Amino acid sequence: MLVNSSMRDAHALNHYLRQRHPLTSVVSYPERGPWGDNRYPGNCTGYLLIDLLATYQPRTVCDPMEGSGTSREVCADMGVVYTGFDLRHGHDSLHDDVGNGYDLIFWHPPYGAMKRYSDDPRDMSGAASLAAFVSLLQQGYQHFFAALGPGGRLAVLMGDMRLRGRYIPFTSEVVQLDRRNLESIIIKRQHNVSSRHTAYSGSFIPILHETLTIFRRPM
Ligand SMILES: C[S@@+](CC[C@H](N)C(=O)[O-])C[C@H]1O[C@@H](n2cnc3c(N)ncnc32)[C@H](O)[C@@H]1O
Repeated sequence: MLVNSSMRDAHALNHYLRQRHPLTSVVSYPERGPWGDNRYPGNCTGYLLIDLLATYQPRTVCDPMEGSGTSREVCADMGVVYTGFDLRHGHDSLHDDVGNGYDLIFWHPPYGAMKRYSDDPRDMSGAASLAAFVSLLQQGYQHFFAALGPGGRLAVLMGDMRLRGRYIPFTSEVVQLDRRNLESIIIKRQHNVSSRHTAYSGSFIPILHETLTIFRRPM
């Protein structure tokens, strides 16, 4: 894989590439690294993207909801051709053209209404109900899966939540999107979440994981 000389943090990337272990079904990244903006709500660690790129060696990557640009910056540093969109820049990826023929699409949608990103009616985080959100997930899945090239992969990062004491299993909704083309599920330990530092009484179990669900388009 090409390592670009204009990378923002050559040391962090090269050090990680040298010592990383092959991806397994459980991952944990205590540090986010220098990619993207860690003040952006829902910002994800760049190390997950590095592991995906090192594992699958895609030539072309798309992130249709790139937020603060974590995947954009990782791809720039690793010399991978990248296309990214976000509603915050006016692009409604659920309906607008996102291109096609990608080797890898990394999709990190809002987790339902856990965090409202904007008042734009096209924003997934504004879905009026859980059923409406799941319907948008299905819509996005169809749109993005169709944008893969043969053998391409769609990796969806998602977390579960609780609403008024009820457990909302979004990660399970993601698995149900397309069981036929399901390739892998990776459990990602969450760090720096507020529930980790809260003392709960009794039998309450805080949610400290997300899942990356990977679907593969047939060759
Ligand atoms: C969880 S954040 C992505 C965070 C990103 N991975 C990062 O590291 O910064 C989800 C993003 O989805 C975007 N979004 C929501 N609905 C959208 C839509 N219809 N089209 C494009 N982007 C959308 C939001 O603006 C938000 O930036």
